[in-house]
Amino acid sequence: MLRRWNVWMVAILIGTQLLAAMGAKTRVSKQAFGKDSEGKAVDLYTLADGAVEARIMTYGGIVVSIKVPDRNGKLSDVVLGYESVDQYIANSPYFGAIIGRYGNRIAHGRFELDGKTFSLPKNDGDNSLHGGTRGFDKVTWSAQPVENGVELSYLSKDGDQGYPGNLQAKVIYTLVGNALRIEYSATTDKDTVVNLTNHSYFNLAGEGSGDILQQRLKINAAQFTPVDSTLIPTGELKPVAGTPFDFRTFHTIGERINNSNKQLQNGKGYDHNWVLDRKTEGELVEAAVVEDPGSGRILRVLTSEPGLQFYSGNFLDGSIIGKAGHVYAHRSGFCLETQHFPDSPNHKNFPSTVLKTGRRYHSVTVLQFDIQKAGN
Ligand code: GLA
Repeated sequence: MLRRWNVWMVAILIGTQLLAAMGAKTRVSKQAFGKDSEGKAVDLYTLADGAVEARIMTYGGIVVSIKVPDRNGKLSDVVLGYESVDQYIANSPYFGAIIGRYGNRIAHGRFELDGKTFSLPKNDGDNSLHGGTRGFDKVTWSAQPVENGVELSYLSKDGDQGYPGNLQAKVIYTLVGNALRIEYSATTDKDTVVNLTNHSYFNLAGEGSGDILQQRLKINAAQFTPVDSTLIPTGELKPVAGTPFDFRTFHTIGERINNSNKQLQNGKGYDHNWVLDRKTEGELVEAAVVEDPGSGRILRVLTSEPGLQFYSGNFLDGSIIGKAGHVYAHRSGFCLETQHFPDSPNHKNFPSTVLKTGRRYHSVTVLQFDIQKAGN
């Protein structure tokens, strides 16, 4: 009898320890956050897992804040943005937003699919940028809480912004163990093109704390896609070796940004797509790592996507006043947009962005936050 009790006690003890090791679940809460321009209610979801807290709103699926400790435990918000929906609606260079249906540019706002030509709004000179004039960043998504996060859904109707097919898109944000995971999926009822991403602007020293030029970047890519002066890829895959685009070992963002280099001139700094090194298509690989020597914060970006747009905040010019009255000066935030390559529908040699009827688009990106120990 006594023996059986002992066995039970041991089993219960092991069980309790296992649960403790798994950690408490991420707390997910919801609050009202104003209205969009059509009067639709917008909600703000807070995901907190202890050390890191991320806030996501249903308008644009926007990541509004990510609070991360520095090496002394001091929390800072490491993404640029605003405090109210109205400000995001009034004027935002895609701060924190889900980008769709097509991340980055499509040349001349035009592509061909299944022998038909489709025309898209030209909202960036002669090109279509980030899904058109009313992309996924400017609509309110339906939301429901899920384990450790929130699931957002949006039905983009056939013909929306010129794209074919009713596209049912879903984005699931979850926060587990200091990592914000973004899972994108979509289905369509007509063949179409899709390229979803998230457009968060990071500053690991904290938003509003100055430029990001001393933050150190590594990108695991041996090639990038050069662009013309309108930021449309030439179609070439160019080795980064011997150029300011070689981030295979850590360099500060600012080290070579003002070098005389045609590609840097075209981008007004870095605004290019890197071809990520990978052995197997679609597996999760480490795309980039950023370290902020001052705070000790580290961001690791993992993705199943073939490309990464590194944008060094070149269009920020101090005219935007963000959270807490912070002035967002030139290059005070950087974006690492995991993606298929820009203008893929017009480049047969790029990985395809075509989503066929009956198939499912699926893509995962993980933003993992770490802390550099003092002396490292
Ligand atoms: C992307 C583009 C940039 C710019 C920003 C938003 O990163 O590649 O050229 O449009 O979005 O300002």
